[in-house]
Amino acid sequence: MRGTVAGLDIGTTKTCAVVAIESAQGLEVLGVGEAPSRGMRKGVVVDLEETIKAIEAATEQAERMAGVPVQDVYVGITGDHIRSTNNRAVVATANDSREVGEVDVRRVVDASKLINLPADRQIIHALPRYFTVDGQEGVDDPVGMAGGRLEVDTHIITGGQTFITNVLKCVHRAGLEAAGVVFEPLASSASTLLPEERQVGVVLLDIGGGTTDIAVYSLGSAIYTATIPIGGSVLTSDISLGLKTSRDEAEAVKRQYGAGVRDNQSEGTFSVRTLDGHASKSVSTAELRAIVVPRVLETLRVARQKIIENVPRDLVLGEVVLTGGGSLLPGIAAIAEDVFGLPVRVGVPKHVVGLTETVAQPQYATAIGLLLFGVNGHGTMIETSRRRTLGNRIRKFVADLWN
Ligand SMILES: Nc1ncnc2c1ncn2[C@@H]1O[C@H](COP(=O)(O)OP(=O)(O)OP(=O)(O)O)[C@@H](O)[C@H]1O
Ligand SMILES: [Mg+2]
Repeated sequence: MRGTVAGLDIGTTKTCAVVAIESAQGLEVLGVGEAPSRGMRKGVVVDLEETIKAIEAATEQAERMAGVPVQDVYVGITGDHIRSTNNRAVVATANDSREVGEVDVRRVVDASKLINLPADRQIIHALPRYFTVDGQEGVDDPVGMAGGRLEVDTHIITGGQTFITNVLKCVHRAGLEAAGVVFEPLASSASTLLPEERQVGVVLLDIGGGTTDIAVYSLGSAIYTATIPIGGSVLTSDISLGLKTSRDEAEAVKRQYGAGVRDNQSEGTFSVRTLDGHASKSVSTAELRAIVVPRVLETLRVARQKIIENVPRDLVLGEVVLTGGGSLLPGIAAIAEDVFGLPVRVGVPKHVVGLTETVAQPQYATAIGLLLFGVNGHGTMIETSRRRTLGNRIRKFVADLWN
């Protein structure tokens, strides 16, 4: 039995920790924990103490369910500070036999990271899209091939140093070690997409509370990634303002009726409590749709526009996959089909065993994806000064178990 791994998704609305073990059947989820995030806004930390509390609560819940302490975690990163670009680099293969070795692959990928970067930004990922060996394009794995000239095309994702450091500060102060950081839509893609979809061309949209994260794949690899600071929270605010009701009531209305008519019932009315909570009023589904649809359209159109501006004109895309809590909005798939002119499906996390009933929900796509991304060795280590607080955590965990 190999060691446990953990994923930590510090979202704008909820913080989610998942613990898994690498078993013969695959990655087996042992525990899931969730706590409301009160210290996050649009994907970034705005309150350290609140964020630490949420991390501790989610992690402890996951540990309790799993019966093992959480040590190293793969941490999700998102926010308006993230930028992505594609780059290309070339090296001569280093050995006399003119054969591409692993060291050459590392050298060429490292060379592709040499981009002009302001001092306050850092590279989170340099993902090889494909290699070219002595002019032969489209090589997935060049190791062992004959050739003297190795080129790589990479997708590079950078983030603002302070935003990343603040997330890692919270992780460390919650007594955890960051095994690596992962840009969130890459994690969500790892858990929800199929290899065939990435090959044909697919848009992944993770619609969360504060952000909508985008990842576009073609020919098997990421070609464009981005994040938009609009998510499900603003829709709740719109409903609350539009129907003059509390946020809680607006949230419930959104989940029940969304942009459509529930369960294909005919057009009708439903009752909503007034702001003071003492009376109810009748609202038509058409009235709700007039609030919800424009905001959903706006979000999806911004995503589409960003994609159009940033991918090659002739790129073939076969499908849109929606995930994140926002993808549960009744009626959203039909709106997305209109906006993108492509088939749309809602993606739930797959590719793991254990607790599958619990985790097969779109809001867990990032957390599960962090595990998958992590065990496949793609999590990026970001060096920071750390305090070793793990001993305390394990002791606390053991003590709690006997209480
Ligand atoms: N059934 C539903 N219908 C509509 N919206 C829903 C439903 N369930 C959850 N949501 C919305 O999903 C959002 C939360 O999604 P999620 O948990 O993926 O976000 P997050 O990861 O915390 O935030 P972010 O990714 O933006 O940092 C909330 O705005 C919530 O209102
Ligand atoms: Mg999220």
